[in-house]
Amino acid sequence: MSARPVIAVLNGPNLNLLGERDPHAYGTVTLPEIEKLCHTAADRLGYDLDFRQTNHEGVLVDAIHELRHRAAGVVVNAAALSHTSVGLRDALAVVDGPVVEVHLSNIHRREAFRHHSYVAEVADGIVTGCGARGYAMAVEHVAHLADERIGDRS
Ligand code: DQA
Repeated sequence: MSARPVIAVLNGPNLNLLGERDPHAYGTVTLPEIEKLCHTAADRLGYDLDFRQTNHEGVLVDAIHELRHRAAGVVVNAAALSHTSVGLRDALAVVDGPVVEVHLSNIHRREAFRHHSYVAEVADGIVTGCGARGYAMAVEHVAHLADERIGDRS
């Protein structure tokens, strides 16, 4: 087992299609490239990374349950489920560590149905509209919050 604490980065539906899906909104960076960015950020801060993507709400809820005590912090881009899923919101509410929500696009500048996020109600911070770089920012912030909670590990 790893000696380093873990930051989980969870991705919801359709994010496996990044690179080909609506590049005007989401850019051309692929999910494997985003995973690399997150890995570099987490590693630099002394964390291991658990990076996942699923198109299924229940799988995401199960992943959150599995990680709720194990992850030092969770970064989540729930994609469309952000705007629809009370179940996902309730699962995130029982996570021990800090939760940071991330969106590639600025959801407040888009269609009205994207303006509300259930995830935001249980998130310690939100990064939206900063593209793929936003993931690295979210990892950095969740690590900072986790460090504060478990005491500075340096
Ligand atoms: C998204 C924004 C959501 O509204 C959308 O459904 C997505 C991606 C983003 O990263 O900008 O799939 O979460």
